[in-house]
Amino acid sequence: MLTIKDILARNHTWSEQVRRDDPDYFSRAAAAQAPEVLWIGCSDSRVGPDSLVSLPMGSIFVHRNIANIFATNDLNCLAVLEYAVDELHIPNIVVCGHYRCGGIHAAMQHSGIQPIDLWLDQVRYVYHRHTLELDHLDEEQRWRRLAELNVESQVHNIARNTIIREAWRRGQEVNIIGVIYDIHDGLLHQTGVQFSSYEEWQATQARG
Ligand code: CO
Repeated sequence: MLTIKDILARNHTWSEQVRRDDPDYFSRAAAAQAPEVLWIGCSDSRVGPDSLVSLPMGSIFVHRNIANIFATNDLNCLAVLEYAVDELHIPNIVVCGHYRCGGIHAAMQHSGIQPIDLWLDQVRYVYHRHTLELDHLDEEQRWRRLAELNVESQVHNIARNTIIREAWRRGQEVNIIGVIYDIHDGLLHQTGVQFSSYEEWQATQARG
């Protein structure tokens, strides 16, 4: 079992390695952060963003929760978005879902009154909006498709948020992009939903 001693030892080794490779790294990091990506991802231990896009620390501003939800009534989500857009002026917001997501699976199985059930109700709403499509699929396909639809739904939740609309209105660059991580081969794929302006987002609303 991994103990705190192991964790500290690994940290020590890592810090020395970074200093060896890039002697100024920590003084630069201490001065400021200038990330170009806000990452909304799942808490799942297998989907850590810095590793899977191979960017150094300092590149990605991260918010993670179970099933990569952008909950419009969650202060945590809203504060992260506000800081990322209004203070850090991050141009890319990536919502990253993943296949074989335990949160998505749980949302398909049951409901209840525990905190995790209540949290995942937000994925159940996505399911209910797409029952016609999802009910035709077998369980494995439904699990995959719901993960994709959930990403799209969270991209919409971000796009219609006042923080984003205000940023677009004043001409700030903000691209909101949905991706899905395939845990079987480590590859990211775009889900096809992406907005870079209010007009782009509005056009999808008119069709719906
Ligand atoms: Co997950």
